[in-house]
Amino acid sequence: MRVFFTGGSGKAGRHAITYLQGQGHHVVNADLTPSGLDVSELLIDLTDAGQVIGAMSQFTDFHELDAGTGVHRYDAVVHFAAVPRVMIGTDGECFRQNTLTTYNVIEAATKLGIPKIIFASSETTYAVCFADRELKPDYVPIDEDHPTVPHDSYAMSKVCNEVTARSFQARTGADIYGLRINNVIEPHEYETMFPAFMDDPALRRRNIFAYIDARDLGHMVDCCLKTDGLGYEVFNVSNDDMSVGITSDEVIARFYQDVPVKRQMRPEETFYANDKAKRMVGFAPKHSWRAVLG
Ligand SMILES: NC(=O)c1ccc[n+]([C@@H]2O[C@H](COP(=O)([O-])OP(=O)(O)OC[C@H]3O[C@@H](n4cnc5c(N)ncnc54)[C@H](O)[C@@H]3O)[C@@H](O)[C@H]2O)c1
Repeated sequence: MRVFFTGGSGKAGRHAITYLQGQGHHVVNADLTPSGLDVSELLIDLTDAGQVIGAMSQFTDFHELDAGTGVHRYDAVVHFAAVPRVMIGTDGECFRQNTLTTYNVIEAATKLGIPKIIFASSETTYAVCFADRELKPDYVPIDEDHPTVPHDSYAMSKVCNEVTARSFQARTGADIYGLRINNVIEPHEYETMFPAFMDDPALRRRNIFAYIDARDLGHMVDCCLKTDGLGYEVFNVSNDDMSVGITSDEVIARFYQDVPVKRQMRPEETFYANDKAKRMVGFAPKHSWRAVLG
C-alpha cells in the first residue's frame, strides 16, 4: 500500500515506518524534521492546513515523475505526529497543536478520498497517566469501554481527536481507527529502563503497568492497514505481559486493592487489555522484555 505517514521522524514513527517498509508498503514521511531513514520525505508543518492537503496531493520523489501518469493517490494515512506529552511546552500549545494537526490530517485525507486513516491516540485518555494525584482506574483490566475523562491537556487533545475522527468517519464512511497506544519501548530500552521497573514496580503505576514494544506497534499499524470495513474503532495497543516482574495478583494486592477486578487474570497478564485488537484486526505482539532480561 502507498502510505502517507506523519511524525515518522519520532520515537514510535521511525520503528513503525521500518516495520511497514519490511511488509512491502511504500511509505512517505511527513514531519517537521528529517527521520534519517531511507524513506521519501516531505518536511512540513501539519498545523498549516494548506501544507497538509498540498503534501498529500503532490509528487514526493524524482522517480515518480518518470511514468508521466500524474500523482499517485495514497491508500492510507497513518497520523503519528504530535506533541507527545505535557510539560514539553505549555499545556495550551500542546492541545492546540495536537487537535489542529489531527483535524487537518483527517480533513485532507477524507477530502482526497483516501479510504483508511489510522491515528495515534493514547493510554493517557483513561486519565491515570498525567493526573494531578494518584488516580486509579475505574476497573481492571482497562478495556476500551473504560471512561475517558482525563485531567491534562495532552490527553484532552487525544480525546478531542477521537471525537474529531469519529465525526469525519460518520460524514465520509472512511475507515478511521484510533490506537490508544501504551508507553512505547524501543528495543534498547529494555536494558536501560527495565531493571529499575523490576526494583520498584510502583514506577509503572501511571502506565497501568503496561508497555508496547515499538516493533509490535508497527505490526499493529500493519494489521489495521490490512483490515478494512470496520468504520470507526479505537484499540488499546499493548504487549501481552506487564512491564514489571511481579504477578498480576501481587499488583492487585499492592496497588489495586479498592479497584474492581473484572475477570480472572493470568500471572503475567497486562492490565491494559489488548483483546479487542487481537479479535478485530489480528494483532499478535511477539516481543517481550523477558526475552532480553530473562
Ligand atoms: N511514546 C509513547 O510512549 C506514546 C504513548 C502513547 C501515544 N503516543 C503517541 O504516538 C505518537 C508518536 O509518539 P512519539 O513518542 O514517536 O513522539 P515523538 O515526539 O518522538 O515524535 C513525534 C513526531 O511528530 C513530529 N511533529 C510534531 N508536530 C508536528 C507538526 N506540527 N508538523 C509535522 N510534524 C510534527 C515531530 O517532529 C516528531 O518527529 C504521538 O501521537 C504520541 O502522542 C506515544
